[in-house]
Amino acid sequence: MDIGIPLFPEQASDLARDVDMLFFFLIAVSMFFVFLIGALLIYFIVKFRRRSNADRPDATRSHAGLEIAWTVIPLILTMIMFVWGAVLFFKQSRPPSDAMEILVVGKQWMWKIQHPTGHTEINELHVPLGQPVKLNMTSEDVIHSFYVPAFRVKMDVLPGRYTTAWFTPNRTGRFHLFCAEYCGTEHSKMVGSVNVLTPVEYERWLAGEVGDTPADTPVEAGRRLFTQLGCATCHHPDAGALGPDLAGVFGSEVTLADGRTVVADEDYLRQSILDPRATLVDGYEPIMPTFRGLVNEQQLMQLISYIKSLGDAGETGEGM
Ligand code: CUA
Repeated sequence: MDIGIPLFPEQASDLARDVDMLFFFLIAVSMFFVFLIGALLIYFIVKFRRRSNADRPDATRSHAGLEIAWTVIPLILTMIMFVWGAVLFFKQSRPPSDAMEILVVGKQWMWKIQHPTGHTEINELHVPLGQPVKLNMTSEDVIHSFYVPAFRVKMDVLPGRYTTAWFTPNRTGRFHLFCAEYCGTEHSKMVGSVNVLTPVEYERWLAGEVGDTPADTPVEAGRRLFTQLGCATCHHPDAGALGPDLAGVFGSEVTLADGRTVVADEDYLRQSILDPRATLVDGYEPIMPTFRGLVNEQQLMQLISYIKSLGDAGETGEGM
């Protein structure tokens, strides 16, 4: 049925169909009960209207069969909804390990994007068809929400924290990107588009059709910052280093001075850079200064990309 008004956005990601199927199931169940209850209501109104001489027996005290039915049937239906929804939620929350990682920083009122190759874009995201893409997102200021209806992807973008979203685009084209969280005066203008290109077109796009000159890759930019900010003075592998060596730290378990053991994920690294004393590693002196205000969110992500590139202490499969 095409009446010119699209009721649904296109299904442009692998997840879109799954999400829609669940949604249609919920609608179907709701419609079934709406019509069932509506029809019974009308039937009883007519049958037991005041002037009818339909039989009006005394109220039934209990009816085991009926009680079991109205308990078990809704239980089965809601469990189907729950399990189905949970399976989808897990799928949506776990990016595949071969996903291409793209950094996204939300800011009043724009989306700043950086590709693994170093290419940056604003309010535009170019991705290759069929390639799982993982977005590592944070905000410079307030809460935003990254929303691509055609992919059925929506994730809050929070200041001071990393969130992720992922999708595998399965058709080429240009799709809306919205900010779906009211974030100030020009919230409604915080829009953009996601352009899904064929892999060949994507390579061509990377090779030259970018307005911005390709910057360093996030890893290279992070390495440069690491040197510029003097991190390497203390964080090196030689004996007597004043800070822990960072090779292999990402994904490893770290014992802190206060006795806690934490996994060194992105949020931990972020906090260690901004608030080193809160996450002091056991055996070291609290001498590291905070870098709050010296690095912006994009630079923080680059530093973390660099630290991640120094080696992984084991595939965590979680985080960004
Ligand atoms: Cu950003 Cu609304």
